[in-house]
Amino acid sequence: MPTSTRSRKTPTASGSAEALAKLEPLPENLFRVPVDLLLTDHYRQTLVSEALSAIVTAPHAAGTPARAEKIAHFLESDLVHHMNDEEEALGTRLLACAREEDGVPLLLARLRREHAAIRETATAVQTGLETLAVRRRLPDPGTFAAKAETLVAAVRATIAWQNRLLLPLARRRLGNADLWSLGQTMATRRGISFPA
Ligand SMILES: [Fe+2]
Repeated sequence: MPTSTRSRKTPTASGSAEALAKLEPLPENLFRVPVDLLLTDHYRQTLVSEALSAIVTAPHAAGTPARAEKIAHFLESDLVHHMNDEEEALGTRLLACAREEDGVPLLLARLRREHAAIRETATAVQTGLETLAVRRRLPDPGTFAAKAETLVAAVRATIAWQNRLLLPLARRRLGNADLWSLGQTMATRRGISFPA
């Protein structure tokens, strides 16, 4: 998935609309290949980060309320599910099957630390987005912009190392039974029937 940050464009209001137009629901068949699903979800997070950056650039552009609502919903549902998937469902299985040299306890400690910071910042950003979604002015645009930029940077940073280290490790170590049950857990969390 194209999660590279090397050629990032300057965010614009139309860029926000374009990014969110590409945001598709997770295909249900990916729950059978849960590591691919996590990778796809990282790409979706990159799209939402682009859209959020564009809102910071032009918070009162036409179309902002609908986009702000969509991003707020993603932060409170998709992103939360994803972080819980990695910390609980994936982390537990990796701890059980990894080798000592994989350093999984350290990787999971880093994951939890970064996710805790993301959860805290996302909550503040969500409040600002909900204000914009009902066409009201932000009480403190500077603080909203700073929090949003912090969130975007944190999400991009954690995606980068997870794609480089964590997900490849999961591919190497998890067996078919682990992958199957991981996918089932992730589907159940979202109220989705695991595809037969
Ligand atoms: Fe992740």
